[in-house]
Amino acid sequence: MTVQEAALVVDNVSKHFGGLKAMRHVSVTLGVGERVSVIGTNGAGKSTLFNCIAGAVPVTSGKITLFGEDITKMRAARRAQRGLARTFQTSQLFEQLTAAENLFIALGGVRMRGAYLLPSRSRTERWRAAAQLLDQVGLDGRGSQLVADLSHGEQRQLEIGMALALNPKVLMLDEPAAGFSPSERSHLVALLQNLPETVSLLLIEHDMDIALAAASRVIVMHDGEKLLEGTPEEIRASELVREIYLGGKAKDAA
Ligand SMILES: Nc1ncnc2c1ncn2[C@@H]1O[C@H](COP(=O)(O)OP(=O)(O)OP(=O)(O)O)[C@@H](O)[C@H]1O
Ligand SMILES: [Mg+2]
Repeated sequence: MTVQEAALVVDNVSKHFGGLKAMRHVSVTLGVGERVSVIGTNGAGKSTLFNCIAGAVPVTSGKITLFGEDITKMRAARRAQRGLARTFQTSQLFEQLTAAENLFIALGGVRMRGAYLLPSRSRTERWRAAAQLLDQVGLDGRGSQLVADLSHGEQRQLEIGMALALNPKVLMLDEPAAGFSPSERSHLVALLQNLPETVSLLLIEHDMDIALAAASRVIVMHDGEKLLEGTPEEIRASELVREIYLGGKAKDAA
């Protein structure tokens, strides 16, 4: 894949926090409209990868390109303007507003590190778009609920709606299924599979079934490095992946 065909290219990126090498020489290419999952045990460097791509933290070395443009040193808000949207591992919703109001605000523009984009839609259009997004993320009929009264799963669905409100070209989701019930999990997979074809997806997910169902390519990170990359079938069959996950579990249980 050439750089032009790629939505996102992470080229040999490292991120150190003081002496801690959270990410070492990681390279990832995401094609336009492609769906890629990133898996790996706790502390593997997955969220750090997202933070570097989104511009939440500066890289230590390496280069990041979005649709052919070098964004390595670009501010987070400008990356968002270029079509990069992400959710966080922890909730960033306005708890005392309703689900629809949260989306209404997100549809009004991008707010990141104090930088605002002006809303480009009328209020009526924004409410209509909010209703459509609620439907898209499976929260039809829940728009008038306060976020605080939504279930955990519903809140995470709403977060995806908030990211989609930015009409992203590249969507990064950090563990969207964390704390989900089985029915919420299958709903999420359907939601991800039904994303517009133009949206390129980078998905961090601990739940292997979701990670493999939602992507055509899977990247395995371990201890700050990209260990393996392959199709869902290859990852499912990999002894190495099994060892890492079982090893991690054994350690957790100890
Ligand atoms: N802002 C930060 N400052 C210092 N250390 C950090 C920071 N962010 C992450 N780290 C460290 O970098 C390493 C990788 O963390 P990261 O959050 O990227 O892992 P992860 O793969 O997302 O793990 P998890 O599955 O638990 O979310 C960890 O050792 C973590 O403590
Ligand atoms: Mg993480």
